[in-house]
Amino acid sequence: MEKKQLFRTAVIFALGKVLYGVVTDHDQQCTGGLSKESIFGWMLQGHIYKTMLADLPHTCIFACYKDDRCQSLNWVISLLTCEFSNRTKEARPDDFIPNAGRFYFKRDRNRVRLGTISELPAETCHEIKSSERQATSGKYWFSTIKTGTSILAHCDMATEDIDECTTSHPVCDVNANCTNTQGSYFCTCKTGFSGDGKTCQDVDECVEGSHDCFPNFATCVNIPGSYNCVCSHSYAEDHTCLPAECVDYRRITNADRKVTYGKVSVQCDKTIDTAWYRFEGAAGTRMPTSCPPLYKCNTNAPGWLKGGHPSVEDGQVTRKACFHWSSCCSLSTNIKVRNCGSYYVYYLKSTGSCWYRYCSTN
Ligand SMILES: *[C@@H]1O[C@H](CO)[C@@H](O)[C@H](O)[C@H]1NC(C)=O
Ligand SMILES: *[C@@H]1O[C@H](CO)[C@@H](O)[C@H](O)[C@H]1NC(C)=O
Repeated sequence: MEKKQLFRTAVIFALGKVLYGVVTDHDQQCTGGLSKESIFGWMLQGHIYKTMLADLPHTCIFACYKDDRCQSLNWVISLLTCEFSNRTKEARPDDFIPNAGRFYFKRDRNRVRLGTISELPAETCHEIKSSERQATSGKYWFSTIKTGTSILAHCDMATEDIDECTTSHPVCDVNANCTNTQGSYFCTCKTGFSGDGKTCQDVDECVEGSHDCFPNFATCVNIPGSYNCVCSHSYAEDHTCLPAECVDYRRITNADRKVTYGKVSVQCDKTIDTAWYRFEGAAGTRMPTSCPPLYKCNTNAPGWLKGGHPSVEDGQVTRKACFHWSSCCSLSTNIKVRNCGSYYVYYLKSTGSCWYRYCSTN
């Protein structure tokens, strides 16, 4: 017991000499001696990546020089062991603690600057700044962006923020936008994709019904991030696939066109423009397909559609518009009608004389 204690004390003395020797040999003008790089009675905890048995600490110091990860070491006096750390006490001052049985030694030669190689990634910009004098903003390796991988990302030394969106490995899904924030970032799936941004799935607009392909005129076909409307018919003017008259028509919206409206100030369609019309709003949605009573829709002879409305498949059809006067069809004129899927359009022309009028209903 006595002997051992004595031996240890001798080793500690020897240590001081060895360290002094190492330091002055290689870094004379810089350190000026032992005190700068080696500190007795202290250790750096929490960053030990390797230990090694050695008779003398300088063996460890030379081993440290050969390992890019080595930033500092603790020499464990009683065990003749060294503990290699991948941080310095400057990088992690909170982990630098008193320990009577140890020596702390900061690597004094060719120390790799923290975060500059993938083998020595940093956790934060802050620790790089603490570890390295005059750390400049730029790309550094980080271990904290993706677990188990070193990732190169931009570090702003003024704000100490890592720009995760500039990494060599994208942190968001390929179909997501990355937005950097102070201390963090977030991912947003692009339009047409859903998910948390780290992973994004294609949205099937055709299944979800969030498409504007016109029913009966186009078939929705899903594609990544979007969809296509494939026209079912040959009149594919634009992506709606609708024929021209379903898109380009005039609106009739007055309430007095309705077959329920009486005769207030008699009107007629002698001067109506020849064009495609759609009944909307107060006028209702379509022409009546049965004979209206006399003196309705604000005229004497109300007009109605004979032969019923066509289906979408029927396409553009010619029908008779009949006017009820002495009989349900005492006067008639040929008009055209088209089923546009969810509404009808009518190609109306002058009735020739008064008091005949095209009527509407709900
Ligand atoms: C640094 O050391 C710690 C242990 O203290 C270890 O978990 C970590 O993986 C080391 N980093 C590298 C890149 O070796
Ligand atoms: C993603 O970024 C692009 C280009 O900056 C932008 O046009 C788009 O609106 C963004 N999408 C989302 C969902 O943020």
